[in-house]
Amino acid sequence: MNTSELAKIASKLVAKGKGILAADESTSTAGKRLESIGLENNEKNRRDMREMFFTSKDVEEFISGVILYDETLRQNSSHDVPFSSMLTEKGIIPGIKVDEGLEETSNGEKVTKGLENLSPRLEEYYNLGARFAKWRAVYSITDTLPSENCYAENAKRLAKYAKLCQEAGIVPIVEPEVLMDDANRNTHSLERADEVVRTAHTHLFNALKEEGVYLEGLLLKPSMVIAGKNAEVQATEDQVASWTYKALLDTVPEEVAGVVFLSGGQSDEQATIHLDKMNKIAAGNNPWALTFSYGRALQGAALSTWKGQQINLATAQSVFMHRAKCNSLAAKGEYSKELEAA
Ligand code: G3H
Repeated sequence: MNTSELAKIASKLVAKGKGILAADESTSTAGKRLESIGLENNEKNRRDMREMFFTSKDVEEFISGVILYDETLRQNSSHDVPFSSMLTEKGIIPGIKVDEGLEETSNGEKVTKGLENLSPRLEEYYNLGARFAKWRAVYSITDTLPSENCYAENAKRLAKYAKLCQEAGIVPIVEPEVLMDDANRNTHSLERADEVVRTAHTHLFNALKEEGVYLEGLLLKPSMVIAGKNAEVQATEDQVASWTYKALLDTVPEEVAGVVFLSGGQSDEQATIHLDKMNKIAAGNNPWALTFSYGRALQGAALSTWKGQQINLATAQSVFMHRAKCNSLAAKGEYSKELEAA
């Protein structure tokens, strides 16, 4: 394992004012996004959707890395350039989602699969240009769940994945996603979310330690501490930011290279505001970078503007770049709501 190379890649991904674009929707999730703008889920439309984001002018100013799906890492642009080379030439690091989705446990919870054959897949992904990877575990909240088994099994698998990535020269992003909007499980309080986020992190970092994972070459992609989407009492923006930052300070070792949040169903603006407020609270004293790895919160508005039509391309790209810029400022604690009107 070349630890200094891993640390270098990880710190490039969280360089000041930069964050990650999560464009790693599986074929079926990409289909849902396309369907929402009236397009068929076929390879060309998936390619065009990705190309819109990757070819936005000056995208490298705000985006350090892009998480791709298997198909996209192997795909060429409409001008026949491999996406992976296109991104690398812009100084953007290609990444790859390597988990293979969720399997249900006997009590109806979900654990993430994909460890079988992971080593040869990582080797191939490295040769295709990927230098970081993502594995997502999900935790849905009721008064009694997640169960101990769900925390422990997901942590164990995340740690094994992370170790295999590092052995392959790939920086692992570990993503314990605490769902704010799972079907019928979205009424939990801020306090309950805090408890679950903390427990998930504690299990995860214990497992990473046991597995001997090099933390300076690893990124954490956590959920913010936020009440369920349909909770009676919603927390204020200041509460979400301060509770999240506190939970991270208490559970994430200082050695971790960076924290790159998921947006998880928050509105575009909420995701930006919460990130900004956290960086304002931290005021530069945070042990790890605090930035974004957003999917929906970066892409949603641009997709609805684009609608798959060439005539809308430039406007859609400027909508995307606006969100990227706002999140870049938020990652430095320099965002202000007035920017949204501009
Ligand atoms: O796994 C989740 C994605 O990488 C981030 O997506 O920002 O839409 O939650 P999201």
